[in-house]
Amino acid sequence: MDKRAIGVFDSGLGGLTAVRRLHALMPQENIIYFGDTGRVPYGTRGRDIITKYARQDVAFLRQFDLKSIIIACNTVSAIALDLLSKENDIPIIGTVEPACRRAMTMTQTGRVGVIGTAATIRSGAYEKYLHKKDGTLDLFTQACPLFVPLVENGRVHRGDVVIETVVKEYLTPLKDAGVDTLILGCTHYPLLEEVIGDFMGPDVTLIDSGAEAANLASTQFDPNEGTGTTQYFVSDDPQGFNQLAELFLQEKVDVGAELVDIS
Ligand code: SIN
Repeated sequence: MDKRAIGVFDSGLGGLTAVRRLHALMPQENIIYFGDTGRVPYGTRGRDIITKYARQDVAFLRQFDLKSIIIACNTVSAIALDLLSKENDIPIIGTVEPACRRAMTMTQTGRVGVIGTAATIRSGAYEKYLHKKDGTLDLFTQACPLFVPLVENGRVHRGDVVIETVVKEYLTPLKDAGVDTLILGCTHYPLLEEVIGDFMGPDVTLIDSGAEAANLASTQFDPNEGTGTTQYFVSDDPQGFNQLAELFLQEKVDVGAELVDIS
């Protein structure tokens, strides 16, 4: 058994959706979480900046004794997974491949939608992976740049006219295209599952990319017999992070995030 911790990082709070799944699947695992709240969002930035931030995030986590790192950020997974894997001697797990694999097992019609940040969609990472595995799939992608700021501000609930309007605006083309499976290609988006599910209808399967990355991690290690401690670090506004973390983790918990300067 490998008692070292698993590192998880994201641009902000979204990666907590992966931590939530890790807590459910591997309750005795020790986890170190870093949320780059001082520089969120990543998805509106260019490749060089995203790569630089990702390297700094990983360098911060590597101060701890880790057995693996989960990139709980689709933007970084789409752009820098290969590079980070080459530069590190521990397994680096991204979100794109596990989310695609799940989508391929769930779709009945082969009509698959992918939503993500502007950088994720622009990278074409989801289309490349899915088409390499199955050239017959019909793919429909949509960048949803307003979702991350709305989620980070807690605008996630059914009946919130702002989020419902934005969901309708972004997702109408995918609904009209008749997708039966929709990859939530950003770890913030599972917070919108209810609103997106209401809009897309019950016949559309939503794929939670952060949870799929956690599922993959859980298959790679024997169950730990540790204390199941999670430590949280952020680059800005720990109070704001602490307040919203409950929403993402779906448990009443004082995460006690610590402020760090990683630059
Ligand atoms: C963002 O920082 O823009 C969102 C992170 C993600 O792509 O999951």
